[in-house]
Parts: sequence; structure tokens; C-alpha cells
Amino acid sequence: MVSYKDLGLVNSKEIFAKAFKGKYAIPAFNFNNMEQLQAIIAACVEKKSPVILQVSSGARKYANQTLLRYMAQGAVEYAKELGYPIPIVLHLDHGDTFELCKSCIEFGFSSVMIDGSHHPYDKNVEETAKVVEYAHKYDVTVEGELGVLAGIEDDVKAETHTYTEPSQVEDFVKKTGVDSLAISIGTSHGANKFKPDQCTRNAQGILVPPPLRFDILEEVEKRIPGFPIVLHGASSVPQDKVATINQFGGALKDAIGIPEDQLRKAAASAVCKINIDSDGRLAMTAAVREVFATKPGEFDPRKYLGPARDSLKELYMHKVTDVLGSAGQA
Ligand code: G3H
Ligand code: 13P
Ligand code: ZN
Repeated sequence: MVSYKDLGLVNSKEIFAKAFKGKYAIPAFNFNNMEQLQAIIAACVEKKSPVILQVSSGARKYANQTLLRYMAQGAVEYAKELGYPIPIVLHLDHGDTFELCKSCIEFGFSSVMIDGSHHPYDKNVEETAKVVEYAHKYDVTVEGELGVLAGIEDDVKAETHTYTEPSQVEDFVKKTGVDSLAISIGTSHGANKFKPDQCTRNAQGILVPPPLRFDILEEVEKRIPGFPIVLHGASSVPQDKVATINQFGGALKDAIGIPEDQLRKAAASAVCKINIDSDGRLAMTAAVREVFATKPGEFDPRKYLGPARDSLKELYMHKVTDVLGSAGQA
């Protein structure tokens, strides 16, 4: 058993309480390799933002759990070396079983998500409560989920949203003891969140997706006042990155994300954690494709992963400063 406290990590309790009061959201950036981790830490230290390092079960298989633990410990030391020790959470994203959550807790994670949202309500409550009971013994925080996002989550695919039912949240939080709750209000995973025919065009001819269901969020807030809410599937899918990818041989079609103004509005509400993975993937892919296309003789990975890392750092600095509002809050 490794305690996250010995690694210099923190759980999400205090940073969520501050984010709620301060009307901003903590970034939860997914990572599975060194360049992503370097970019996240360098960006958040430079902007003095707390951060949640998020690992999916797929990422855990890809990177190896022991390496991940040392990488997270390394991230804590790296932040100190850069001159500003920000609060860092190591969080399991979309944990699907009690066993996976338990294993992550034993390997030094400070926070886990048990995603029982695909189960019937009672089974979701039961699974989530079991994880909470175990996690809280070690002061590890737990995120649950109610409602199903459209799109792909690990191996599970949902065609349409099942929006969170506000009448269930109070009972869910009370029965499970979770520390935060992910809800479904119209975001979804991946780079294709909306079909063009679901969108309207603004005066500049840019596609504008349907707004998030802030009415549901407000209902949820009324029923569990002060409780930290989480938004998954919150990438904005920057169109300049999509254009660069397509210009240099990519084939991304109808890639549409959540407009930043919607996320700014969410960050100022009870939403205390905003999950972003796809935007980082797009930034990296655009940078790598550009190097491959413009410098075909290059074969040193540092020459394409370096620019990818620079691009990621810039993206993350923009997110914490201009979208989530967490810059300067560490
Ligand atoms: O919610 C999903 C995250 O973007 C993680 O994706 O399962 O492909 O690592 P992944
Ligand atoms: P995006 O695919 O919108 O980046 O969402 C990531 C996420 O929710 C991870 O859990
Ligand atoms: Zn997610």
C-alpha cells in the first residue's frame, strides 16, 4: 500500500471547496505519457493553478500503474523545482469496478471516480457506496456519476444523452457519501460532440452547437447546495487545430466541441471540475503532423514530441486562464 500523502499529492476536498467559493473550476487533464505530464505541470505552475492529473483505465494499461505512480510523484517534485508547489491530485477517470478503484487507491491515487452511470440507479448507488466506504478509510475522495453522456466512454458507447434527473441527486449523494458528482447536461466525450445539423450558424458563419442544459444544472444546485459538480466531455475542439491536422494529411470530419463561453459559465457555478482530454490530443496531433509534413527528414522523437509538448502547454495555459478561471488560485 502506498499512500498518496507520502507522494506529496492531495485529495480533491479542499481545492473543490475553494473552487466553489471562488466561482472557478479545477482543470482535470488526462495524461498517459511524459510529454503530456510535463506540459500540464509546466502550464499549471506557470499560471499557479491547482490541477487534477487524470488517468483512465486505458491510460493505466498503456502506461503501467507503477510507472504512473512514480510519474505523479515526479510531477510533485517537478513543480517544486519549477519554483511553485501547486496542489496536485492523481485521479482515476471512469473507474468501472470496485477492484480497479481499490487497486488505484493502493497504488497512490488520491481520488477515484466510480462510474456506475450505465447501471440501473440502485446498482449505481450500491457500487458507488462500496467504493466510498473503502476510499474514505484512506482519505481518498470519490466522484460518482448520474446520467449518461452521449458518445464513447472507454468501451461503452451511448447514442444519445440521458440527462441527469435532478430529483435523484440528493438521494444519491446521501446514500453513497460521494465527494463530487458528475452530471449529464449536454457535453459528451471525444472530438465529435455534435452533428452539423444540430448546430446553427452565427453571423461569421461559424457553427454554434445547442447550449448546455443549465436549467438542469440549476435544479441540481438547488437540491444539493454547495456540492461540487463535475463536467466530463468538456473539450472545445479548437478549429485551428482541426484545420492543421486536416491540412497535413489528417481526416477529421465534423469535429465540434463545447464553446468556451458555455464552459466559463459552468465554471462560475457549482461546477468545480472540468475534464479535458480530446483538446490535448488534437493539439499534440496537429503539432506532430505539421513536423512530419514539413520536415520529412526528421526522425528524432524529441523534434516532434517537443513541439507537441509546447503546443499542449500553451493550450493548458489558455484553459486555466481564459476558460476555467483557476489561474492564480494555487
Ligand atoms: O473519458 C474518456 C477519456 O477521454 C479517456 O479516454 O479511455 O481513451 O483513455 P481513454
Ligand atoms: P473530452 O473528450 O471532451 O476531452 O472529455 C474528457 C473526459 O471527460 C475525460 O473523462
Ligand atoms: Zn469522462
